[in-house]
Amino acid sequence: MLSILALTYLIATVYSVQFTAFDHSLLSPDSTFEQFVYSRLESSPWHVSNAKKYDEGRDEVVAYKGKWELAEPIVYPGFEHDLGLVLKSKAAHHAIARKLDHVISNDGRDLVVQYEVKLQAGLKCGGAYIKLLDDARDYLRFGSETSYSIMFGPDKCGSENKVHFILRKAVNGNDQEFALRQTPMSRTGDLTTLYTLIIHANQKFEIRINGEVAKAGSLIDNANLFNPPLIPPKEIVDENDKKPEDWDDRLFIPDPNAVKPEDYDAKHAHPKIPDPKATKPEEWDEDAPYYIEDPTAVKPSGWEGEWKPPLIVNPKCETGCGKWTHPLVPNPNYVGPWFPEDIVNPDYMGVWNPRTIPNPEYHDEQTPGKVRPIGGIGFELWSMDNNILFDNIYVGNSIADAELIGNKTFKVKHELEFANKQENKPKIKNEPLPPPRNFDELLRDPEVSTIYQFIIFIKLFWLKQYLELRDTYDELLLDPVYAIKNNTLKIILYTLVVLVGTTIVLGTLSTIAFLFIGGEEEEQEVEQHRVKVYDVSDDEEERDRIEIISEEINDNVSVPSVQAVDSDIRKRKV
Ligand SMILES: *[C@@H]1O[C@H](CO)[C@@H](O)[C@H](O)[C@H]1NC(C)=O
Repeated sequence: MLSILALTYLIATVYSVQFTAFDHSLLSPDSTFEQFVYSRLESSPWHVSNAKKYDEGRDEVVAYKGKWELAEPIVYPGFEHDLGLVLKSKAAHHAIARKLDHVISNDGRDLVVQYEVKLQAGLKCGGAYIKLLDDARDYLRFGSETSYSIMFGPDKCGSENKVHFILRKAVNGNDQEFALRQTPMSRTGDLTTLYTLIIHANQKFEIRINGEVAKAGSLIDNANLFNPPLIPPKEIVDENDKKPEDWDDRLFIPDPNAVKPEDYDAKHAHPKIPDPKATKPEEWDEDAPYYIEDPTAVKPSGWEGEWKPPLIVNPKCETGCGKWTHPLVPNPNYVGPWFPEDIVNPDYMGVWNPRTIPNPEYHDEQTPGKVRPIGGIGFELWSMDNNILFDNIYVGNSIADAELIGNKTFKVKHELEFANKQENKPKIKNEPLPPPRNFDELLRDPEVSTIYQFIIFIKLFWLKQYLELRDTYDELLLDPVYAIKNNTLKIILYTLVVLVGTTIVLGTLSTIAFLFIGGEEEEQEVEQHRVKVYDVSDDEEERDRIEIISEEINDNVSVPSVQAVDSDIRKRKV
């Protein structure tokens, strides 16, 4: 009880934590920290792009129509009145950007970008990454074509889920993108997630999620960390080098000096042999041709020129004709094929590899992580899910700045959100029910009413009977003799019960049927008698008399037979 009170109090206090802007003077002076403390988006440094982009799916140029808003979180908010930048439109292209307060360069310094993402409607398919834009530029024209230095953050579609880290640099005058191959997975919960990217001055990099390192490595050491490699290899494979025809790369070969075993012919050469016992049948005619001219064919009348009868299969060949050979039978001595043993190939030349040549692209790269100075940030996103909230964006050269911000904003906010969710999350719909209590427990439970217990008892009784009956029936089907022998009494009893039951049911049914249908039939019968009685005579007087009689008869409860009525009439006539 006390703990509930305490919890309520805690939640009450927790909810009233107001948002307070971070003290920027705590940060190094050339960093940019964006908390979205603006009254309106229009009066902020952010510009919603009016550029257009080519939409691959639709194969047409489309505008960035997606709406942006400054808004408080609507799902498990943390601080009160804490605004963020919210992507508002489902399945639309969004682009928004701002100029940084200071241009950030990472020449000989650490580079840190950190921001929060709150997926308020989940992320089934869409991006939530940030682009660090080089150069000061026209942010109204920001779009997919806009050059950038770094792209970083979540991108998810179905099972594809990554935190991008892409460096974009000029190589030989052309921009090229270098993407981290093995990306960490993004977080998909509805609480705020903090993403941090650090490129250290010593060319090590880190991706942190909620302050914890999710991926780290060196941009110099591992050539294969990025695709394409950040540092081009010194040597490359010569594509023109082809494997020579006579290159022997067989490690083992069949022993050329191996000798066939003496019994090779008998045991290994022939799986089948001509049947020695077979003889040519008497009727077999080796000289008879397989096809002969049809002797029954006649030249059609009116045939002009030479006529030849058509060929048919020689009837003699039904027994056999042509050269006779012994039929093949399995060789009783055959033990399987024989192969010479493999030996190590004395001429083995090794695995062939194309030769390598100096890479014309190679250039000495001491600082592959060095990017063009960053002048702006932007979100250029498409998402199936809306209400993605961005907040607390830091771009600067200080890891300590980013950590301090994380401690003072994200950590506190996350705890508030967590408490909020614990309190307000919808109850799980399919919460497992407690296991059903068995009959015994119910019967012993004093809180269960006697009537209910009685009902349960009856149910239990019948269930038991039913189960036993079913068992016996199954046994009977499986092995009737055994079942009858073993359960004689039971089967007799069941049979009796079934017989008596059937009799009772059928009896009741027929009684009911008789009451409803039989009664009607009786009336019809009486009706018929009436007609018959009328029809007996043509004489009018007599008919009157008969009517009286028939009336008497019909009033009678029992139904008289036709004969009885007839004889009665006759008697009266006489
Ligand atoms: C952030 O918080 C952690 C843990 O409380 C602490 O170790 C670290 O020194 C803090 N960093 C800064 C920059 O405040």
